[in-house]
Amino acid sequence: MERNQVLISAEDLACQQEFQKKIAAMFAAREAHPRACIDTFGCQQNVADGQKLMGMLSECGFTFTEDAKEADLVILNTCAIREHAEQRVFGNLGILTHTKKENPEQVICLCGCMAQEERVSKRIKESYRHVNLVFGPQALWKFPELLWQVYESKKRVFSVADEHGTIAEGIPVVREKGVKAWVSIMYGCNNFCSYCIVPYVRGRERSRDPECVLAEVRELVAAGYKDITLLGQNVNSYGNDLDIGYHFPDLLRDINKIPGEYLIRFMSSHPKDATYALFDAMAECEHVAKQLHLPVQSGNDRVLKEMNRRYTREKYLDLIRYAKEKMPGLVLTSDIIIGFPGETEEEAMDTVSLVEEVGYDALFTFIYSPRPGTKAAAMPDPASRAEKQKWFDKLCQVQNDQSAALHAAYIGKTVRVLVDGKSDDENYPLASRTEGNRLVRLKGSEDLMGKFVNVKITGSNTWALYGEVE
Ligand code: SAH
Ligand code: SF4
Ligand code: F3S
Repeated sequence: MERNQVLISAEDLACQQEFQKKIAAMFAAREAHPRACIDTFGCQQNVADGQKLMGMLSECGFTFTEDAKEADLVILNTCAIREHAEQRVFGNLGILTHTKKENPEQVICLCGCMAQEERVSKRIKESYRHVNLVFGPQALWKFPELLWQVYESKKRVFSVADEHGTIAEGIPVVREKGVKAWVSIMYGCNNFCSYCIVPYVRGRERSRDPECVLAEVRELVAAGYKDITLLGQNVNSYGNDLDIGYHFPDLLRDINKIPGEYLIRFMSSHPKDATYALFDAMAECEHVAKQLHLPVQSGNDRVLKEMNRRYTREKYLDLIRYAKEKMPGLVLTSDIIIGFPGETEEEAMDTVSLVEEVGYDALFTFIYSPRPGTKAAAMPDPASRAEKQKWFDKLCQVQNDQSAALHAAYIGKTVRVLVDGKSDDENYPLASRTEGNRLVRLKGSEDLMGKFVNVKITGSNTWALYGEVE
């Protein structure tokens, strides 16, 4: 694919700014002050997309509310990764029939990954007639134009063409206040893991220009952001499509040269593309957090093959061994799927034994959920839900014991943390994160917010550490 086909042109983006102005002028003429309610589901990429929606809506003159009842525009920014995520969205759409009855002028919009599924857009078209606008992730950059079409034509608008995807630089963003920020370095996925819907809804892999990423990180550091996460479905293949001999470890090294007090994290890493060179770069770069989210999914080679993950248990464990050797104290996390079609109890227990062998700090664990249109959805799946639940519970119990033991070993130690929020524990009112992204609840005053401080760890449990400022 030619790069110039991937990048949206400056003229096309300028055109979207014109639509923003038209919408702002329309509301100014009505003397109404429009409010938008955006509900985002799913992963950090969707959260980052939600911040772009807010950026574009701000330019259109909108302010924001969390209450759908008082909103002129309601946006559901959806996730398709598991069936449960989709059910929640359909539930919310049902509730919105009532808000629309109260306020017939209300515009309802469904975007994000579910919107890109043909099955979903068809169902919305036929059965959810109160939804005015549906568009997939690939059309995000032209949201102002689509919204204008809804206001102007009063017709329902669907923009869900199956596209490889583009890159649009310079879309306005409204970021969360505080010290955390997300930077998408690439979009899409080429991997087609057999259980996963993402490649079907997010298009093909495409990397942003390194200069654009560097400029954005520089801006964030200058604005005071201190905990910056680089996002991509598989950051380890960053740059492959650029054909300039520039890869993810190069990007880490270049970002690391930016002066300031900040940490860089990244997610997700695919083990098939994780290399010793990546770990060498992480070890070398003082701004790169010594934390690695390396989703393994399964500890059994037959299941890994059926999942189309393209690495073996042995290869994965070798990567972990090298990473730990290079970065003593490295904090490891992973994603795991239990109950992939055809998985046996013995195979699931291979995953449990891998978890014990690696010694993860925490896991994101999921029971397999069939996604229509993926290869795995057509595979025989004989194990019962009850059996899968039993394996899942075993995995969680092993991980919880492991997390508790790893956390207890911190008691009495001093660690550097970044204070990044409030905690819901009144005795420890501040929330902070270690370099490894472990949650530390803190005693201390609010003026520490946004600062790096040294804390003495005084207590722990499965989920968190407790500490006092030294
Ligand atoms: N690109 C990332 C994953 C994004 S999806 C990566 O490869 O690491 C986040 C996680 O959701 C996956 O790692 C997987 O564990 C889980 N997941 C994806 N599809 C799933 C499905 N059909 N059922 C259950 N869990 C799933
Ligand atoms: Fe899904 Fe696999 Fe792509 Fe991750 S790498 S988004 S699990 S297909
Ligand atoms: Fe969900 Fe789409 Fe992310 S399917 S996990 S929101 S890429």
